[in-house]
Parts: sequence; structure tokens; C-alpha cells
Amino acid sequence: MKTLPSLILLTAALSTASFLALSSSAQATEVKQASNEKQAQAVTTYRKSVFQLISSNMGPLGAMAKGKIPMDTDVITKNAERIAFLAPMMHDYFSLDTSKFNINTDAKDSIWTNHKDFSDKVDNLVTAANNLKMAGENNETGSFKKAIGAVGGSCKSCHDDYKKD
Ligand code: HEC
Repeated sequence: MKTLPSLILLTAALSTASFLALSSSAQATEVKQASNEKQAQAVTTYRKSVFQLISSNMGPLGAMAKGKIPMDTDVITKNAERIAFLAPMMHDYFSLDTSKFNINTDAKDSIWTNHKDFSDKVDNLVTAANNLKMAGENNETGSFKKAIGAVGGSCKSCHDDYKKD
């Protein structure tokens, strides 16, 4: 009869542990060292590809905010949704620390020593993109410029700290 209560205790402890692990991984993915140069190179290609796709969706939004092309609610909504979808991939591709390898990258090594802060900046971009998407969906034309500015500001805030010029 002694084993049953301790089994219950153990189960309770385990489920608490897995709950904690789950709730923290929703915030920031755990950092691992890239195991070899090939892997470091591959993940670097992926993260740059994500930035290229994000950038291609940001281009028209930036031009609209600067008044170079007319505001287009459909493009705003669609591109903001795409950015909100693509940006969380950064959590995965930056969870491998590539700093030990000699690869062609503009990523600063501090990404992996300040990973919580870096991950927060990823989340800030997702939030800004979702806010822009909502502004588009609700056709809040008066807030487009500010909402696009918030997305652009979240790019800059991360580049200032974590991207080499
Ligand atoms: C959380 C940090 C972070 C955010 C947010 C962020 N970037 Fe970046 N960005 C980086 C880092 C780090 C690199 C360097 C990646 C590398 O060279 O490995 C980069 C690289 C890039 C590149 C160059 C990719 C290449 O092929 O070398 C472009 C373009 C870019 N970002 C655009 C953007 C745009 C546009 C936004 C906002 C919509 C944005 N980024 C938001 C961190 C960020």
C-alpha cells in the first residue's frame, strides 16, 4: 500500500514538470549547438530564406506607408497575415546556435546568449503583424500607416541589436 501514494505523487510531479516545460517552450525554444558545419550552414540558409520572404511581403507595405504607392486594404491584410505566419519560424531556425562555425551570416553571436530577448523581439513582430492584419480586416484606413510603422519598427529593433550591418 506504500507504493500507490508515491506513484500518485510521482505522476503529479511529472505532469507539473511537463506542464512547466510546455509553457516555457511556448515562449522561447531551447537553444542547442549546431552539431556540424553542414547543419549550421543549412539552418542559416533557412533563416535567410524566411527573412527574404518576410521582406518581399514587407516591401509593398513600406512603400504604402511612405506614400509611394496607394494604400491597398487587401494587400495590407494579405501581407500582414503572411508575415505573422512566417515570423514564428525564426523561433525554430534560431534555436540552433551556429556561432561556433565559420559560415556566411550577419547574425550576431549575442542572439544565443540573449536568446530570451531575441525571442521576445520575434514575438513583437508577430504581434505587430497581427495588429496590422486586424486593421486591414476592419478596414481601419486611418490606422494603416501607424500599424505598418509598428511592423517596420519591430524589424529595426531586432536588426539594431542582433544583425551585423
Ligand atoms: C528577432 C529578430 C529579427 C526580426 C524581428 C527581424 N529580423 Fe531581419 N534579420 C535578423 C537577423 C539576425 C538577420 C541575419 C540572418 C543571417 O545572416 O543569418 C536578419 C536578416 C534579414 C535580411 C537579410 C537576409 C539574407 O538573405 O541575408 C532581411 C532582408 C531581413 N532580415 C528583413 C527583415 C524584415 C523586413 C523584418 C521585419 C518585417 C525583419 N527582418 C525582422 C533578425 C531579425
